[in-house]
Parts: sequence; structure tokens; C-alpha cells
Amino acid sequence: MKIEITKMTEDDVDDVHRIEVRVFSDPWSKQAFLSDMKNDFAIPLIARFESKVAGYASLYAAADEIQIGNLAVAPDFHQRGIGTKIIEYILELAVETNKRLLILEVRPSNEAACKLYEKFGFKVAGKRKYYYHKPTEDALIMIRGVD
Ligand SMILES: CC(C)(COP(=O)(O)OP(=O)(O)OC[C@H]1O[C@@H](n2cnc3c(N)ncnc32)[C@H](O)[C@@H]1OP(=O)(O)O)[C@@H](O)C(=O)NCCC(=O)NCCS
Repeated sequence: MKIEITKMTEDDVDDVHRIEVRVFSDPWSKQAFLSDMKNDFAIPLIARFESKVAGYASLYAAADEIQIGNLAVAPDFHQRGIGTKIIEYILELAVETNKRLLILEVRPSNEAACKLYEKFGFKVAGKRKYYYHKPTEDALIMIRGVD
């Protein structure tokens, strides 16, 4: 399966948002994705398969960290290695840009995401109380050093 990871552009945002509302109960707005295009710290990415947007990630770089603020794969493409490709790309980017830490939040009930991050060596570093809504849930903070 040939997956291409590139920077997200404004033309991708409709496709990205269609995925976002399918996979999250409390989705980001289109505007949130569009704002990232003008944010110097944001690195919005898409994963494309046969010219279709199959997944995306919203990264934020600050000092020596990259925060993974959002990451999803379209349901039709789940469990075909696209999440893996996105994480591998982020790890390469972190090395190339001399970052030392990756950080993200995840719902503890989100088994697929927790397993994906654990597979790549992310460890639970703490909790944010009542971080998520619809339904309310604490967030696990997961971190991974960049070697
Ligand atoms: C989490 C998500 C990104 C995984 O993407 P994906 O492309 O399906 O993942 P991959 O096919 O690359 O799978 C990689 C690993 O993730 C884990 N995984 C993926 N789907 C899983 C599932 N349904 N149940 C358990 N583990 C799962 C496994 O460890 C898997 O490794 P394996 O194939 O060796 O078992 C995808 O399920 C998704 O978009 N979910 C909705 C949005 C979301 O939850 N985003 C994360 C928010 S923090």
C-alpha cells in the first residue's frame, strides 16, 4: 500500500474534516484546521492513498518538542498501516529537526490509539483531569523521547 505523507493545504481541509466528524465525538471545526495553515508552529500533515485523503495529523513544534494535537485515519482505511506510516513520518521529522520529545493526549478508552502509541514506545507520563468532552474523560499524557 503506497501511502504518501505531505503537508496539508487548504484544499485538503474539506476531506480532512469529513474524516474528523466521523471518528471523533467532539470534532475540531474546519476553522481549527484552516488556522493551522497560518500558524508558524503548526505542522499539519495528510496521508494520501491513491490520491484520496486517508488520514491526517496536526503537529505543533515548540522548543525541542513536537506535540501531536490531532491524528486520525479514515474508518475505511483503519488497520491497514496508515496510522503506523504517520507515526513513522513524525519520528523521522523529529530526528531531522533535532527535537527531543514527542507528546500527546489520548482518551484511555481509545484502545486502538493507545495500542498504536504504545507500539511506538510512548509511555504514560500523567493525566489531565476532565480534558475531553462528549463524553467527559480524563486524558492520558503520553511522551516518547527522540533518539
Ligand atoms: C488510532 C488510529 C489512528 C490507528 O490507525 P490505523 O491506521 O488503523 O493503525 P495501523 O493499521 O497502523 O495499526 C497500528 C497499530 O495500532 C494498534 N491498533 C490499530 N487499530 C486497532 C484496534 N482496532 N484495536 C487495537 N489496536 C489497534 C495496533 O497496535 C496496531 O499494530 P498491529 O497491526 O501490529 O496490531 C485509528 O484507529 C483512528 O483514526 N481512530 C480514530 C481517531 C483516533 O482515535 N485518533 C487518535 C486520537 S489520540
